[in-house]
Amino acid sequence: MQTSKVRLVMVFVFLPLLITACGQREVSFQRQINPILQKNCAVCHSPGGPGYIKSGFSVATYQDVMKGTKYGRVIIPGSSISSTLVRLIDHQANPLINMPKKFTPIEQQHSLIILPGSNARWLSKHDRDLIAKWVNQGAKDN
Ligand code: HEC
Repeated sequence: MQTSKVRLVMVFVFLPLLITACGQREVSFQRQINPILQKNCAVCHSPGGPGYIKSGFSVATYQDVMKGTKYGRVIIPGSSISSTLVRLIDHQANPLINMPKKFTPIEQQHSLIILPGSNARWLSKHDRDLIAKWVNQGAKDN
């Protein structure tokens, strides 16, 4: 094949394939989602932590995450829009219950996780998009 033809094949066949493959790649709970939860949520949402005591929501295991709070699920597989967890981290809910939790000054004084500058650190857009994508792909234990 001539070089120009090879190039055309690259551009019109392989490039679209590559782009499609990247767009549909499955988000992995173990590799991508769990580390975000452990870093940003586990400190409060593990048995004994303030978030767990108040809501019953733990991020200790995949099963815990799917179980939700003492009132029910916070993740609806396939629908990030209906998933409380996604709404909370996107700050679309009541500002008082956005997650990660905003500390009161007293909580801040007693907390080991004081965050410089702001006390309510939002997840990055990248992390929020990743969680929403994982939920929309079925919130699998993958
Ligand atoms: C500093 C502690 C803290 C951190 C960090 C934190 N939470 Fe919470 N979370 C709470 C508390 C406390 C509650 C109970 C509701 C309240 O008081 O606002 C709660 C409640 C919740 C609920 C239940 C809300 C409901 O509708 O009942 C979900 C879901 C949740 N958190 C998810 C998360 C996620 C996801 C993260 C990490 C991105 C996170 N939280 C980080 C403290 C925390």
